[in-house]
Amino acid sequence: MKDKIQSLLGPQYPWKDLLEYLPETDSTNDRLKALAKSGAPHGTVLIADRQTGGRGRNGRSFLSPEGMGVYLSMLLRPQCTAMELMHLTCAVAVAMCDAVEAAAGFRPGIKWTNDLVFGKQKLGGILTELSLGAGGLADFAVVGIGINCRQRPEDFPEALREIACSLSAAAGREVCPEVLAANMMQALYHMDQTLLTGKDAMMARYRSDCVTIGKDICLLRPGAPVEHGRALDVDDSGALVVAFSDGRVEAVNSGEVSVRGMYHYV
Ligand code: BTN
Repeated sequence: MKDKIQSLLGPQYPWKDLLEYLPETDSTNDRLKALAKSGAPHGTVLIADRQTGGRGRNGRSFLSPEGMGVYLSMLLRPQCTAMELMHLTCAVAVAMCDAVEAAAGFRPGIKWTNDLVFGKQKLGGILTELSLGAGGLADFAVVGIGINCRQRPEDFPEALREIACSLSAAAGREVCPEVLAANMMQALYHMDQTLLTGKDAMMARYRSDCVTIGKDICLLRPGAPVEHGRALDVDDSGALVVAFSDGRVEAVNSGEVSVRGMYHYV
């Protein structure tokens, strides 16, 4: 796996030797955070063939069976404040749309904030974790991405069969995990190059890929009742601008958003 990915990376990719591969780990994000604390450099990538404790947002798990997907984390050490990285997850999402398009021949949508979708089904997700340094500076960021690559519908547990999809099923042909992984690494490298300078152009691309904008949504915030509204936009910090049914318009940063017509929201 590692040799094949390295052979697929173009000559302009500068971090070939910073790729670590594990047949199995609990969570590539957790392992990479431990490596970051012991000094691993900017650009280090950890890929596992299987995760036993893959994590998603809001404390969820991310199913990571052997040989079926790409489970990849990249370490970044941006020279900026944490505030300047508010858009990082959006930037990673756009980069992953580019990578999927290159590897599978179609462009997925983005369900705000961090899900990659094909129609009404989830293809993968992004978990960005930031470690703070002194004075509001970012110490490091670990961006973790899991993408379902080879599953047939019957390979998903029954509870997920209707709401999850793989790139191979969506594309109607085999998508090779190594090809996808190499495209993901290259797209993340390009994202890193323009992370602080190309924010406006990137956010315009995010809005155009984001399928949540214009849809009726349901918002569940911790300790609050379910709220209904319509998603109007995504602002420059990556917050979802929602017109609630009681007339309020608010930029929402956290909570669980269900989009009408997707996953199980009818
Ligand atoms: C989500 O769906 O909420 C995000 C899923 C992120 C999964 C990836 S797989 C690689 C990395 N390691 C983890 O434990 N999580 C991320």
